[in-house]
Order: sequence, then C-alpha cells, then structure tokens
Amino acid sequence: MAASLQQLNLRLVGSPFYLKSASKHSSRPASIRCAAATLTKRYSITVLPGDGIGPETISVAKDVLKLIGSLEGIEFGFQEMPMGGSALDLTGVPLPDETLSAAKQSDAVLLGAIGGYKWDNNPKHLKPETGLLQLREGLKVFANLRPATVLPQLVDSSTLKKEVAEGVDLMVVRELTGGIYFGKPRGIGTNENGEEIGFNTEVYASYEIDRIARVGFETAWKRNKKLCSVDKANVLEASMFWRNRVTAIASEYPDVELSHMYVDNAAMQLVRNPKQFDTILTNNIFGDILSDEASMITGSIGMLPSASLGASGPGLFEPIHGSAPDIAGQDKANPLATILSVAMLLKYGLGEENAAKRIENAVLDTLDKGFRTGDIYSAGNHIQKLVGCKEMGEEVLKSVEGQVPATV
Ligand SMILES: NC(=O)c1ccc[n+]([C@@H]2O[C@H](COP(=O)([O-])OP(=O)(O)OC[C@H]3O[C@@H](n4cnc5c(N)ncnc54)[C@H](O)[C@@H]3O)[C@@H](O)[C@H]2O)c1
Repeated sequence: MAASLQQLNLRLVGSPFYLKSASKHSSRPASIRCAAATLTKRYSITVLPGDGIGPETISVAKDVLKLIGSLEGIEFGFQEMPMGGSALDLTGVPLPDETLSAAKQSDAVLLGAIGGYKWDNNPKHLKPETGLLQLREGLKVFANLRPATVLPQLVDSSTLKKEVAEGVDLMVVRELTGGIYFGKPRGIGTNENGEEIGFNTEVYASYEIDRIARVGFETAWKRNKKLCSVDKANVLEASMFWRNRVTAIASEYPDVELSHMYVDNAAMQLVRNPKQFDTILTNNIFGDILSDEASMITGSIGMLPSASLGASGPGLFEPIHGSAPDIAGQDKANPLATILSVAMLLKYGLGEENAAKRIENAVLDTLDKGFRTGDIYSAGNHIQKLVGCKEMGEEVLKSVEGQVPATV
C-alpha cells in the first residue's frame, strides 16, 4: 500500500491519489490501484477480530466493506488472523509472527479489539495488550488520529450539557510508538534502600517529535488551522523538549495557529469548553487518556474510530474502545466505531474517499432513522429503536445501498 502519511501530505497539497507509490511489500504495481473507476481495484486487508466484542463488530464492518466494494468497483481480499487473547489461546503468544507478517504485507489492517478477564493476570509479555503494542511497533504506525465529533443525532447522549457538547468536532493526534509506553529503563525492581519499586521512562528523540508534530500541523491545516500541543512542560524535561521541538516545527506552517496547554488544564478544558479545540497534538500517554475523555463528550466510546499511520506501509484502523467483556457475546455492542474505522481505512489507508463518504453518510442516515444500540439509546424517546449489534449493521447496509453515490 502507499504510504499513508505520504498520502495525507499529497492530499494537503492537492495532488491526486494516483501519485501514491506501491508498498515495498506489495507485489502489485501501483497502477492497479490507480485504475480508472471502470476497472476493478484490488486491496488486501488483514482482519484481526481479536477478543470480546471484537469479532462481533468486525463481522458487521466487514459486510459493510464488502458491500461498498461491490458498489464502488473495489475488490477486497480478506485475510483473518489471530491476535490478542485468542492468539494466546491458539499459539501461546499475543501477536504470532504470521499475523504480523500478513499485516505488513497487506494494504491495510482492520482490528476489532483485544483483551479480557481471562488473560488479565498473565505475565506482561503474555498479555493481549502487549500484542497490540507489538503490532503498532511492528507496523511503525507512529501517528494515531482520533476524531471526536458530537453528531447532532447523538447530542443528548453526551454527558455534558447540550450547549457545551453541541458542535464539538475535534481531532486528537497522538504519538503512538514512543514515550513512556516504550521507554527504557522500565521494570519492577529494588531501590538502594531495598524497597520494591516500579519504574518507566518518558523519552522522546527529536525525530520522533518532529514527525508527529508535522502530522499535527498538516492535520490542523486541513481542518480549521488551529493546533493545540498538550504537554506537562512545567514539570517534565521530556515535555519541555517536546514543546521546544513543536515550536521549532511551527515555522514550517505559518498558516496554522499554534498554542500550548498543560495536560491537566487540557483535561479540564475538554469538559469545560471542548469547542475551543480543533486539533490536539500530544504524546502517547496523554493522548491515550485525553482521547478517551474526548470520546465521552460524543456520547459513547462505541462511536469512535481511529487511524494509525506510519511513514510508509499499511495503516492500522480500529475503534478506540476495548473488548468490552461485560457485554461480549450478547449482541449488545455498538458496531458504528468499527464501521467508521472502515471509513477511515478507505480514506486514509487507501485513498478511496468516495467510498469512505458513503459509509459516513450511511451511519448518519441510520442514526437519523432512530436506530440505537444500548450505549446511545435514550429510554423514553419514542423516535428511537433499540437494536443489537447485528441489526444495527443490517440497517447500515440498507442505508449504504439506498444512497446516491457520494461525491467529495
Ligand atoms: N484497542 C484495544 O483493543 C483496547 C483498548 C482499550 C482496552 N482494551 C482492553 O479491553 C478490555 C476491557 O477494557 P475496558 O473495560 O477498560 O474498556 P472497554 O472500552 O472495553 O469498555 C469500557 C466500557 O465501554 C463499553 N463499551 C466499549 N465499547 C463498546 C461498544 N462498541 N458498544 C457498547 N459499549 C461499549 C463497555 O461495555 C464498558 O462498559 C481490557 O482487557 C483492556 O485491556 C483493548
């Protein structure tokens, strides 16, 4: 597949997608994907259903992808591989080599969710979450884009007052392969007094900050040209360095207004006045926390997709929620976050903007018709119809089919 971030850059300067080059892993020439609309385009997708509600939402999202493919003249080849707890049960490791290798060779990777009670007490290297970190590292997807938009249809699902939540439309750009989640030294040991200690290291090299800062500026440039970099530069040296580098990169983007905010203030401002934010740029751990907080403003974690992109190679697309073991296997999961992740896969991973827009429109249409899974259902609202994961998926399929093809 073409480089996802290269693609983002190309879009920013208005160049056509066909300038994308083929992945170094792909045996197919780039021209196949750049074929005219009348020719069938082919993409290989590695699908990692994972654990808990992952297989349920992935099954629905795959159907949406297949349908959109048939309508848009795109052929998808799916390769389903084990990952997370299910891979542990099958192979003894959370990310088998075969899974990573298949992912690297595909055009895009679609992940459901991983984790569950069963594996919670495993040693760290045998936890499903370790497999996810290994996958992100293996694919070198250092930029995580997490949109949080309050849809007019769901404004009442937000935990915030309507006037605060209405109109929120922000993007969190999170650094994904560095910082304290990967920094060394790390471990559990003993200090000089013989006391047990646990320790991790927040560390960023300049190149890691520069490349994610550029993604942040470019993302903001495409949106409302406002970038807020979040750090803890009043306390942490790693954050002081982060702030200096982001400020230096700002000179490359004179059109984008840069501001800085401490993370504790950002957490507060997100619930006080979230509309002040357009694009938030932040490190791995702060981004993890703030994007989950932002998700609640939108009503439910079950609505939010994400894209993780590298400088080249396939992107990783997944809902931001986890495996929700409390509702797994009960047909209660909201599949819209995974369906919207498919839209991000099409848009950012494959450059298929029309197909992506069609899915986004179908999701809005389904919500307009009143269909709601439990997490976004307001009891007593007579326009709404409570549905399960499968039925929600079927309604989205109907909406995809019922639409006039989108143009962007
Ligand atoms: N990327 C991932 O795969 C990922 C991300 C976060 C957590 N996890 C793992 O998932 C497991 C559960 O973690 P958690 O409970 O902290 O987070 P979670 O996101 O799985 O669930 C949090 C709450 O949100 C609800 N929820 C989540 N997704 C939903 C959906 N699509 N529809 C309706 N409700 C939904 C759940 O029922 C639960 O009440 C853990 O093992 C954790 O490590 C995985």
